[in-house]
Amino acid sequence: MTISEWVERSSKYIDRLDAEVILTHYLNVHDRSYLVAHDDEELPDNIQQACDIMLAARMRGKPLAYILGYKEFYGRRFIVTPEVLIPRPETEEIIDFAIAAKPKSIVDVGTGSGCIAITLALELPKAEVTAIDISDTALSVAQKNAMQLGAKIDFRKNDLIEGLTLPEEPLIVANLPYVDKTWNWLDKNSLSYEPQLALYAQKEGLELIYRLIDQINIPCRLLLEADPSQREQIKKYAKEHGFKFIRARNYILSFKK
Ligand SMILES: C[S@@+](CC[C@H](N)C(=O)[O-])C[C@H]1O[C@@H](n2cnc3c(N)ncnc32)[C@H](O)[C@@H]1O
Repeated sequence: MTISEWVERSSKYIDRLDAEVILTHYLNVHDRSYLVAHDDEELPDNIQQACDIMLAARMRGKPLAYILGYKEFYGRRFIVTPEVLIPRPETEEIIDFAIAAKPKSIVDVGTGSGCIAITLALELPKAEVTAIDISDTALSVAQKNAMQLGAKIDFRKNDLIEGLTLPEEPLIVANLPYVDKTWNWLDKNSLSYEPQLALYAQKEGLELIYRLIDQINIPCRLLLEADPSQREQIKKYAKEHGFKFIRARNYILSFKK
């Protein structure tokens, strides 16, 4: 089977773009333009077999990032395994907010793949960065990413920031689980591949965000990711707990204490 025949056949079952990405991955080429330039070349049997297995996985709904084993975030490639949430494009905005805040120290709560902590450590090399997660397996993926990308991070296994001594006036960033299982717009099949611990929270998705707000008892800046439908509830709760609301955009809320 030629390259173009494989793409044509696969595009009947999955997105054409996903099919092309799978093929470029297994052909070990960087650019999809390679597929156009070599469209009538025969695919070696072993590559076609590997691509067919991935095609079948994608047809069952497995996210492309878990098939490939990586996901781009803020221009860098992060290892992802089913133990960590796949970094989302909406989370990149937290990086822009954080850079604008010019922090001396950063605490990333719920680090997962480490995408926020590592990106900030590389974008703000003078800042001291701590990254926390309750999951051992997520922390080991984050540590691999930090090593691969050359970021210096202090990783901690902890329940949010309970009992930790934080640096003076840190920037706390947190993309904690905030999905309410009852939301009817969720793509339950695709989400079933991701760690439930990374996605869902009780109390309409707000339990962990509220608990983090309760735990913060020092002056700091706080950047939270949440669904825009949760914004007013979070603002109210944070204000009742001594935070001043600064601004919000899309999925990100910014506070000061
Ligand atoms: C939504 S994922 C975010 C991952 C990553 N920061 C990102 O933006 O892609 C939330 C992370 O919080 C972690 N987590 C859940 N409960 C926690 C807790 N009580 N304390 C610390 N981390 C927790 C999960 O293991 C998961 O890695």
